[in-house]
Amino acid sequence: MRTQVGIIGAGPAGLMLSHLLHLEGIESVVLEAHTRQYVEERVRAGVLEQATVDLMVETGLGARLKQEGLLHNGIKLSFGGCRHRIDFRDLTPGRTITVYAQQEILKDLIQARLDSGGQIHFDVSAVSLHGLDTAAPVIRYRAGGDSREIHCDFLAGCDGSHGVSRTSIPAGALAVFERTYPFAWLGILAEAPPASEEPIYSHHQQGFALFSMRSPKITRLYLQCAPDEDLDQWPDSRIWEALRTRHATSDGWRPVEGPILQKGITGMRSFVVEPMQFGRLFLAGDAAHIVPPTGAKGMNLAIADVRVLARGLAEFYASGRKDLLDQYSATCLRRVWKVQRFSWWMTSMLHRFDAEDGFEYRRQLAELDYVTGSRAASMSLAENYVGLPMDY
Ligand code: FAD
Ligand code: PHB
Repeated sequence: MRTQVGIIGAGPAGLMLSHLLHLEGIESVVLEAHTRQYVEERVRAGVLEQATVDLMVETGLGARLKQEGLLHNGIKLSFGGCRHRIDFRDLTPGRTITVYAQQEILKDLIQARLDSGGQIHFDVSAVSLHGLDTAAPVIRYRAGGDSREIHCDFLAGCDGSHGVSRTSIPAGALAVFERTYPFAWLGILAEAPPASEEPIYSHHQQGFALFSMRSPKITRLYLQCAPDEDLDQWPDSRIWEALRTRHATSDGWRPVEGPILQKGITGMRSFVVEPMQFGRLFLAGDAAHIVPPTGAKGMNLAIADVRVLARGLAEFYASGRKDLLDQYSATCLRRVWKVQRFSWWMTSMLHRFDAEDGFEYRRQLAELDYVTGSRAASMSLAENYVGLPMDY
């Protein structure tokens, strides 16, 4: 088989890239290790920056998003028993965020690709990449018991943090920068109407808690926990008790409780590889960088990368010029590092790193007091949260 761009991974990065390339008249094939059902059901991100929403709408993917997405004009920060609002509409020029689940975006993208004859091969295995530093790279894989090959002009490694793309690059060609955090998130989906219209980030002596939502009937909640936390130690009653405690404010607000539909643990890591390219292989999304979820940025960053990549590939196929492709890594990394900084900062401000460290606890409270009390500081949080402008 032959195609112009071979894409590994049917997550937000891989599918959006395939969609954008199709709109430019460029052919691609997407290979995915899991089944379509698995990809469409996996619960992950939920907060979309304005630019991600605009891109969905501009490229014909906005119908369900406009109907089912929950538009938010702000978030709340809760600490010391009080809740404070960060008003995005006021602090940024009218920009907002939208809550629309990652798996819904994936359903929309998969449907759009299949409707226009796009090729997505699910449930493939033994994917390997060859000839990365030649003009004719090849992907080999197995599907339905057969060995197959795709000959490509370019490869896009969109296979997330545990994929094969990054590890196919020779040792020494990439520099790795990372931070690990001494905690994880225990996340739940609950069948309960959201008790707040906007996400609430709560700082508490017992640890961070986040209140979010997926629909008028479904609440999404997270609790800071140990990185090696055993879910069996968290019966539903303990989860709700911790959520009530950590979100408690003097006005008596508490989340509406309901049956827990899903529970999971999410690790926390800051990770970047440089450069995001080796020969004809371009890394995009979680394959190249991971942010802790406190800034709600991972999926948005994955989409931002493939916008840059699609423009570079479009320029190449239209004119034979590689200027934008050659700039791909540098262009993306400018944004990646700003988003890393913001995600690290939100994480550091809101989580307990060491239960014994009274200095750190008071410093965090002072920072939250400053961020919510100073218009300049609130504005800085708001402009990062709604998404920095695409500066390419
Ligand atoms: P992925 O979504 O990981 O997709 C990679 C795909 O490649 C997967 O489908 C995988 O099965 C496939 N794959 C892997 N290996 C292979 C292989 N060898 N061959 C073929 N296919 C392969 N981000 C936000 O922006 N906002 C949020 O609110 C937010 N909240 C989050 C909450 C949680 C609990 C978690 C876990 C993440 C959150 N994120 C959030 C992060 C976001 O989900 C990720 O950053 C995003 O999924 C990255 O997209 P991607 O396409 O790069 O990678
Ligand atoms: C979510 O709704 O899943 C969510 C919201 C905000 C975050 C992370 C995740 O920072």
